[in-house]
Amino acid sequence: MSGRDEDSAGPIDLRSDTVTRPTAAMLEAMRTAPLGDDSRDGDPTVVRLEQRAAAMVAKEAGLFLPSGTMGNLLAVLAHVTRGQDVLVDPLAHLVTSEIAGLVGVAGVVPRTVASQAGRYDLAALAAALAAAPTARVGAGLVWLETSHNGAGGRVVPPGHVGEVCAMARQRGVPVHLDGARLFNAAVALGVPAGTIVAPVDSVMFCVSKGLSAPVGSLLAGSAAFIQRARALRRMLGGAMRQAGVIAAAGLVALETMVDRLAEDHAVAQRLATGLFAIDPTLVDPATVETNILRLDVSRTRRDARAWADILAEHGILVQASGAAQLRLVTHRHVDEAAADRVVATFAAAA
Ligand SMILES: Cc1ncc(COP(=O)(O)O)c(C=O)c1O
Repeated sequence: MSGRDEDSAGPIDLRSDTVTRPTAAMLEAMRTAPLGDDSRDGDPTVVRLEQRAAAMVAKEAGLFLPSGTMGNLLAVLAHVTRGQDVLVDPLAHLVTSEIAGLVGVAGVVPRTVASQAGRYDLAALAAALAAAPTARVGAGLVWLETSHNGAGGRVVPPGHVGEVCAMARQRGVPVHLDGARLFNAAVALGVPAGTIVAPVDSVMFCVSKGLSAPVGSLLAGSAAFIQRARALRRMLGGAMRQAGVIAAAGLVALETMVDRLAEDHAVAQRLATGLFAIDPTLVDPATVETNILRLDVSRTRRDARAWADILAEHGILVQASGAAQLRLVTHRHVDEAAADRVVATFAAAA
């Protein structure tokens, strides 16, 4: 496996897959990319990336963006009328981390619907879709996320995506999928990303996380939807100029970095198995489907912050989420040997 090649000297950084650095091939592509003015008459490298991205998710058109947060916000702005509801799982990144944009910029109401591991309770979703719009404007969008960050990288089964879309369509409500880690989900399922997102109206995915590009996310959907999102992107100040410099790395990410995500999943599974052997209340390896582990430390003798601090003293960086949970995310700079060191450190400290 590619391993901690360029980074073996530093700490083992499991806080997020966003810490990945560009590959040598990306840096070379960035140096030599043909450039133009993306906001004027077009940047040829951005155009190539947008076309490639749209093709990979089998949608008509794509739009290159500085971040996943902007992609999700543009999807809301393009689909939803001010005052409408977005039906969303309470653990979705949209709710936990992007709510200010949703409410403050888009003026849209997050209406949470009961869910488990990113899958809606379909009866609750039906009720939310049917809610009589007397006191409310009504549902303007249904939200899905896969792999599901808040649920520990769980993968939403494509059958569930199809069921949710069919229910929403019956009510004339579009569906957006937050696929910041869509390719982790696709690799875990062993299906093309396009298969997962075929029934949704729009999808956002990042090239900046496990795929290792330094910057960037893509929004994809129908040509009309992307045309509208493009205008809204400009409104938000997201129109970039010689963005081919960063799009070039995104192209290398999509062309060469997808299949290797399986290595990150294997390392995550190795971590889960090792930690389960130390204390089975920490994590159930069967729930670790991609590159994210959420450890429940509530039955250990430290809270999450204390665990993060003691691990940091040993050169291992993790993210404390609240008092009881640690998040560990594997990526290109964390290999099997690093995973074994994490498990050994945990065992010694436990
Ligand atoms: C599921 C999910 N959606 C959206 C985002 C936002 O992406 P960005 O950090 O590029 O704005 C993240 C970031 O971690 C995420 O995990």
